[in-house]
Order: sequence, then structure tokens, then C-alpha cells
Amino acid sequence: MKTRARFSSLGFVVAAAGSAIGLGNIWKFPYITYANDGGSFVIVYLIAIALIGLPIMLAEILVGRRTQQSPVTAFLHFAKDVPGGKVWSGVGYLGVATGLVILSYYAVVAGWTVYYFGKCLSWSFGGFSDEIAANLGSDFGAFLGNGPVQILFHGLFMAVTVGVVASGIKGGIERVTKLLMPILMTILLLLCIVSVFSPGFGEAIRFLFHVGPIHTEAILEAVGHAFFTLSLGMGALITYGSYLGKEQSIPRDAFLITLLDTVIALMACVVMFSIIFAVPAAERAGTFTKSATILFTTLPRMFYDLPGGVIIAPVFYLLVAFAALTSTISLLEVVASFFIDKLGWGRKKAALVAGSTIFGFGVLAALSLGANSALTNWAPFGQRDAGVFGVLDYFASNWMLPVGGLMTALFVGWVLDAKLTRAELEEGHGAFKFFGLWRFLLRFVCPVAICWIIVAVIGGRAFN
Ligand code: PHE
Repeated sequence: MKTRARFSSLGFVVAAAGSAIGLGNIWKFPYITYANDGGSFVIVYLIAIALIGLPIMLAEILVGRRTQQSPVTAFLHFAKDVPGGKVWSGVGYLGVATGLVILSYYAVVAGWTVYYFGKCLSWSFGGFSDEIAANLGSDFGAFLGNGPVQILFHGLFMAVTVGVVASGIKGGIERVTKLLMPILMTILLLLCIVSVFSPGFGEAIRFLFHVGPIHTEAILEAVGHAFFTLSLGMGALITYGSYLGKEQSIPRDAFLITLLDTVIALMACVVMFSIIFAVPAAERAGTFTKSATILFTTLPRMFYDLPGGVIIAPVFYLLVAFAALTSTISLLEVVASFFIDKLGWGRKKAALVAGSTIFGFGVLAALSLGANSALTNWAPFGQRDAGVFGVLDYFASNWMLPVGGLMTALFVGWVLDAKLTRAELEEGHGAFKFFGLWRFLLRFVCPVAICWIIVAVIGGRAFN
């Protein structure tokens, strides 16, 4: 039998943190935090990360390392020993499908970051005029509606992602994430330091950590985002866990990944809000819409008002593109490793076929931002999530991830034997003091909280 590829000692943490840290942290989290008035929303999000996210992360990694398999074959591995048998492999298939769905629109947004990196370079060298500033919003709209350009950048991002995954665990994924993650953290740290001197810094901190009233809807949104941002509920960490060595500590690694992801999300908020709150309140109301496009329509203008903006602006979009790439790699790896483990394909063929399929779906998403009216207006779930892009995001975040996370929690908490899960968590770690607490959270707190989300979604609320 072929021995399975392995991450080197730090490789797993870096790759998994790279998966977790992505557009969810830098694009989505600041925007939904702004839309939900910060403060209490952030607190609920942090609680969700600790009580739901971290326990499920431990569960996913332990399944991956125990079985040395990607999701589908991982669940099949247990089939003859557990009640339900092969049925549980459905969770694995759901994960593969989720990876396919998320990546097909995620890579489109990732393409935008590359495009804006190029735009900022041209502004930095050519000058950022008042006219450019005034037209940022309409230019972004025109960019979204330009089908060929959308497909081009989506395709570009997918091609790079395929290249990395095809190069293997150590030579591809580990090498690229080990190169990019330190760059990303350094840039973000620098930006954070710059923002401390921004007149908006104090207000930004107050906004992030004040305690205020909170709506049920915001609680649901925070819990849903906890899944998305930690790459949970679709087997990404089962897959990465399958390349983790037995001498590594799962509890320590999971804790580190969660901590890094959370710190980066908060840092992204500090940077973004320091810029936003530097604008006087009266003016702000007219300038900012609390929308998902804020990263591309408002931030460029703010950047070029800052001292050193000509450098900060392109560097920032490069950072977001790096963060996105280390996440798209993990999404593609879930689909590719299914072909490798279940169908016995070679890695290159698997990466190429999975990548092309996703590119194909992504074309539909890329054309649904204005370029094609039928795709743009398709709204099976109502106008709030109209268009193929909106529908895919809605379906993945609101249904596929929570259901996948729920099933994983039930499987590891109730179906797998406590002796087995304890042994796997303690392998490479030693006695795991929090085992009882972990198992309690997984068996009771996670399922109840997730069921609550699902019921709320059925009640008609889309939480992203
Ligand atoms: N966690 C990534 C982000 O925050 C997105 C992602 C979700 C990646 C699911 C892999 C799996 O951007």
C-alpha cells in the first residue's frame, strides 16, 4: 500500500490556518460586523468560535488523522463498526459537493482581489484623481457586469489553485502556504500599526468591543460565520487532518488555528474600521453603504487619503489575494482528494478534472453579476439572494455547512466510541484534560445550536 503524504511538523498548522484565514476574515467578517453594529455581534461570534467552532474542528481533524482518508472514504472506513454503516459516507459526499459549490463563487471574488491589486498599481503609478474616486462605485458595477473579464480573473485564480494542488501536499500546498502566510501576517501587522495612528482608531476599537443590544438574527449570523471562517462543516479539516502525523498534538494545533483565524479577523476589522471611522460621522452616512462591496468601492479612496497610501493600497489587495489562495487550495483539495482516495486517480488528473468542473460552475456565477440577465435574475430563494452567485452562497452557507457540521458533531459525539476519540486526541498530545468538556460541547451544545440555526433558516432567514 502507498504511504500517505504527510505535512511536516509546522506544515499542518500553517496550511490549516491558511484554509481558515481567507475572504471570510477580510472581506465578509468586517462587512457583516459593520452591518450588525459591531460590539455584541463580535462577542457572540467569539463565543460561537469557542463553543461550537473549536469542538467541531477537533472532531474533524481527529476523523481525518484516524482514518488517513478524505471525507467520503473516511466515513466509509468506520462503516462496518458503527450503527448506520455506510450511510454516514453521505456526510462525506455532502462535503465534496459543498467544496465544489463554495469554490465556484469564492474563486470569482478571489479574482476581484487580483483585479484590484492591478488597479491599485496603476493608480499608485498613474495618480489617483478625484474623478477616479468619484467613479469607484460605478466602475465596480461595470467590472461586475463585464462577463469576459469576470471569467478571465476567475479562470486565472482557478488555474493557480489547480497548479498548487496538483503539485502535492508537501511540494505544493505546504510550500505555498508556508511562503504566503508569514507575508500575509506581516502585511496585516504593518497595516494594523499604521491604523493605530489613524484618527479613526479609537472609534474603531470602541465600535468593535462595545456592548449593545443584539438581535436573534445577528446571533444566527455570527454562528453561521463561525463555520465559514474556520472552514468547518465540509471536511476541509478532515482532509488536511488525513495528512497529519501521529506525533502531532491535535488539541494544540486546533487551538492555534482557531486563535490565528480569530486574531486575523479582528485585525482586519481594526484596519478597515480605522479607515472608515477616520471620516466624520455626518459625512460617513452619505459615503458608506453597509454593503458587501465596501472592500472594493470605498476602501480604495480611503487608502489614497492615507499617508503612504500609494504603497498600502496595492499591498492590501495582494494580501487579500494571498489569503484567498490558501483557502481556495483547501477547497479544491477536498474535491481532488475524493477522486484520489475513492476513485484511485493520480493527483494531477484529479486536480485538473476537479478544477475544470469548478471553473465551469464558476462561469455561471461569474456571469450572474450583471453580464447575463437570466443568470443574474435567477432567484429560487427570493430576491435577497438573486442570481447564481447569490444562490450558491446562500445555499452553501445556510444549508450545506450547518448540516455538514451537525452531522459531523453527531457522528463523532454519539456514534464513535469515546475510547476511540480520546485515544486519537491524546495521541501525540498526552492526557487531554478537557476531553469531558469537549465531548459535552460536541454532543449537546453544538447540535442544539446548529439545529436552532437550521430551524431559523427554515423560518425564512438567510444569514449572510
Ligand atoms: N475559511 C475560509 C474563509 O474564511 C473559507 C472556506 C470555507 C475555506 C470552507 C474552506 C472551506 O475565507
